[in-house]
Amino acid sequence: MIESIQHRRSIRKYTSDPIEPEKLQSVLEAGRLAPSGNNKQPWTFIVVQSEQQRQAVMQACHRQTWMMTAPAFIVAVADMAARSEADLPIYIDENSPHWELKRAIRDTAIAVENMLLEADAQGLGTCWVGFFVQSEIRPVLGIPDNKFVLAVIPIGYPAEHPPARPRKPLAAIVRYEKW
Ligand SMILES: Cc1cc2nc3c(=O)[nH]c(=O)nc-3n(C[C@H](O)[C@H](O)[C@H](O)COP(=O)(O)O)c2cc1C
Repeated sequence: MIESIQHRRSIRKYTSDPIEPEKLQSVLEAGRLAPSGNNKQPWTFIVVQSEQQRQAVMQACHRQTWMMTAPAFIVAVADMAARSEADLPIYIDENSPHWELKRAIRDTAIAVENMLLEADAQGLGTCWVGFFVQSEIRPVLGIPDNKFVLAVIPIGYPAEHPPARPRKPLAAIVRYEKW
């Protein structure tokens, strides 16, 4: 497992090769199998493949034009209503204080990382894109105002092989017994 984790990179340049449907399915399956608080699974994954929709999503991601080289995007959406059953008619965004929203975001983040790792295992590249605001990206995909878009994941075959980006050493981030 540690070798898989070491191997993954954020990829920002893709080949035009299409993604085999079974590989895409396997990536989505990795997201589906993620753990979540109380097993609530508060996520929805939107697969975006059309040129027109990818363009619109890319624009909402502050025009990160490199994204267009990827043949598909997976948009991961967190749903705080997954806990309450009720489809709350509320408006949420980056400033919302709701604890339920934080829990849904936490759980969906696990699913996203699962997908990044499975994509890498399938020979595919990805990049977690989080540079957008809810009010701009939601309308593009018809996502209701009470859902939170957590990540756009461009996915495809890598056309670049960047070196590992630096990480802090363990000595700087691990403490024992107390803070
Ligand atoms: C929550 C989150 C948001 C990110 N948003 C973007 C983004 O909008 N655009 C981008 O090019 N990379 C984005 N990244 C990728 C990071 O820059 C990248 O993970 C980091 O530099 C480490 O590189 P690595 O993934 O190759 O190890 C994001 C990563 C995370 C986890």
